[in-house]
Amino acid sequence: MIIPEGLNSKKSIKLKSRNKQKKEEAQRLKLNSITDLFNNFYFHQYGKERWPNLLSSLKGPSKSCAMINKFASNVSISEFIHDSKSSNNSDMMKVDYLDVECYVSDSKFPKPKKDEHNILNVYHLDLASIMVTKALDVQPGDIVLDLCAAPGGKSLAILQHLLNIVDQREGENEGRSTRGMLIANEINNKRFHRLLQVIKSYIPFKYHQDHIKLVKNSPTLNYSYDKILVDVPCSSERHLITDQNELSKWKESRSKIFSIKQYNILLDAVKALRINAGWNYKWLKETMDGKSVKKLNLDGSFCQINVMVMAQCILQF
Ligand SMILES: C[S@@+](CC[C@H](N)C(=O)[O-])C[C@H]1O[C@@H](n2cnc3c(N)ncnc32)[C@H](O)[C@@H]1O
Repeated sequence: MIIPEGLNSKKSIKLKSRNKQKKEEAQRLKLNSITDLFNNFYFHQYGKERWPNLLSSLKGPSKSCAMINKFASNVSISEFIHDSKSSNNSDMMKVDYLDVECYVSDSKFPKPKKDEHNILNVYHLDLASIMVTKALDVQPGDIVLDLCAAPGGKSLAILQHLLNIVDQREGENEGRSTRGMLIANEINNKRFHRLLQVIKSYIPFKYHQDHIKLVKNSPTLNYSYDKILVDVPCSSERHLITDQNELSKWKESRSKIFSIKQYNILLDAVKALRINAGWNYKWLKETMDGKSVKKLNLDGSFCQINVMVMAQCILQF
């Protein structure tokens, strides 16, 4: 039998669209089942009250935050504030509970600009990142390690505190250089260069030699620090939740592998802490449960440790 050409192509179009529907349905089912696994996994970690709250925060909109670089000129900083207010950020608000000048807004802030001395005037990062550096409570003369530093937002925030103190002290000591240093570590080559670039673009050269050291070589061996910030590589749940394609690739083992990696970096850091020093583990993603934290306290009983767990995702303002 000869089938007219038109009929043949209609059949093939129908078949193709049915196949497409079947494929889409299979993908939808797969995504649903992974979403269930994902939710169960975190439900188990956080409990029935906390996980739904975390999830809704992760799904919700996040505010933009601009940290003013106090090393930029006053003219350049005023220009930034004026430009922001008169463009997208008429709702901008100064964050009054932080001692680093920063602003939040529902919209993106204008890009950083160089001042007359080539120093950039503002750094965009999230508010929680500045809060953890405040929690470090940097004191005069502190030797601070930022163990996972690139691209450098938190290093910059630490320097806003540390160099303030250094300036005051050097004034008292008639210009003589005082102790007080940030050691910023990054093991990834490409990201290390980004870190270097950020420090060069935001911090005046006069501080580089005595107060900043950038390294990529396990600075936890043979050294001891007053404060350590550990901003471990994270498994980016916010990103996963908002990107179906990424979420469909999620596996429990992914979170567990990250957790082990984070734990090992953390233990390294504890060993490098000076006795009676404080430390701050910024926990972007908590796959470790309370038991691990307690165990860590026992393991680290050679020094008094205050563990500060910051779950960035639940910080809403
Ligand atoms: C969450 S990011 C850090 C963000 C940074 N603190 C900031 O505020 O811009 C984690 C960083 O840790 C680095 N990293 C991964 N494994 C590391 C390790 N074993 N030691 C030190 N850094 C590591 C990654 O390359 C990545 O740049």
